[in-house]
Amino acid sequence: MSAQPAAHATHAANAPRVGWIGLGKMGTPMAANLLAAGFALRVYNRSPARAAALLEKGATLAPSVPLLAQECDVVISMVSDDPALQDVALNEGGLFAAAAPGLVFIDMSTVSPALSARVAEAARQRGIDYLRAPVSGSTATAAAGALTILASGPQDAYDRCTPLLQAMGSKLHYLGPAEQARYLKVAINMMVGVTAAMLGEALVLGERGGVDWQQMIEVINSSVVASPLLGYKTAMLATRDFAPMFTAAQMAKDFDLALDAGRNANVPMPLAAVSRQFLGAMIASGRGEMDFFAYVTLLEELAGIGDAGDRA
Ligand SMILES: NC(=O)c1ccc[n+]([C@@H]2O[C@H](COP(=O)([O-])OP(=O)(O)OC[C@H]3O[C@@H](n4cnc5c(N)ncnc54)[C@H](OP(=O)(O)O)[C@@H]3O)[C@@H](O)[C@H]2O)c1
Repeated sequence: MSAQPAAHATHAANAPRVGWIGLGKMGTPMAANLLAAGFALRVYNRSPARAAALLEKGATLAPSVPLLAQECDVVISMVSDDPALQDVALNEGGLFAAAAPGLVFIDMSTVSPALSARVAEAARQRGIDYLRAPVSGSTATAAAGALTILASGPQDAYDRCTPLLQAMGSKLHYLGPAEQARYLKVAINMMVGVTAAMLGEALVLGERGGVDWQQMIEVINSSVVASPLLGYKTAMLATRDFAPMFTAAQMAKDFDLALDAGRNANVPMPLAAVSRQFLGAMIASGRGEMDFFAYVTLLEELAGIGDAGDRA
C-alpha cells in the first residue's frame, strides 16, 4: 500500500505526546517538520547541545531516554547505526526498560534487518508497537519534508501514526508486518552506491577520451541513464565540490548492512561486494568524509588524470 499525504494539519487537544531521540543531520530537520506541523515535541540527544536548534523552535528537552518513554505515547528515533539503536532501545538506560505497554516506537534509522528483528522481539515481549520507518532522501529532502518513507510493522500502528510520517515525508509506503522496510532500504541504498561507482568509471573514461567535463555531465543527465539521483548530484559534479550530502563512510556502513543481510539469507550479490571495495579505498585514501560521489576523484588518480588541465 502507498499513501500520499494530505495537507498538514495543526494538532492540538487529543494529539499524541511525541518524543524524539537523535538530533543529527537528519533528525534535526525531520523533528523540526513535526513541530511545524503542530505536534508538541519532547526531544533527547546524547549530546544535549545539539538540541538547541529544536528548543528554539519550541520543543522541550527530555534529560533521559527513560523519561521520554514515561512521558510520551509515541517515541521516534533517528540515530546512526546498529549500536546506536541498540543503546537507545534495548540497553540499560534505554527506552524499552522504562516503557509501558501500548507505547509506539518508530525507528527511522538505517539499520540491519537482524538487529531490527531483535528489537521487534523485545517490543513484542513488552507490548510495545514497533514500526520500522527508514527513509530515502537527503538532508535537503528531510528539510523540505519530502522524504520517501518505507514503513513496516503492525499496520494499525502505522495507520495511527500516518499523520506524523506525513509531516516528514511526501511519499509513504507501507510494506508489510515485519522487516520488509529494512530490506528494501538497504537494497535501494546498494543501488545508489553502485550508481556512483559506475558513474565514476564512465566519467574517467570520457575524460581520457577528451570529452569536456561539463558537457559530459549535461549529456549523461539528458540520456537514457538520467535519474533523480544523478539530478541531485549534478551541481556537486559540475562544481567538483564534494562536501558530503552522504559520506563515503556512511555508504560503506550501508553496504555492510546489505552484504550481511544477503549473506544471512544466502542471496548472492557480487556487484555489491565489488562496489564495497571502492568505498574502502575511498576511506583509506582520505576520502571517507567526502560525499561518496567523490569516487570519481580516486579513479582519476588511478588513471593518472591529475588536474583540470589533464581533463580538458
Ligand atoms: N544523512 C543522510 O543523507 C541520510 C539519508 C537517509 C538516511 N540516513 C540515515 O539516517 C540515520 C541518521 O543519519 P544522520 O546523517 O542524521 O547521522 P548523524 O548526523 O551522524 O547523527 C547521528 C545521531 O545519532 C546519535 N547517536 C549515535 N550513537 C548514539 C548512541 N550510542 N546513543 C544515542 N544516540 C546516538 C547522535 O547523537 P550525538 O549527537 O550525541 O552524536 C546523533 O543524534 C543513519 O542511520 C543514516 O544512515 C541518512
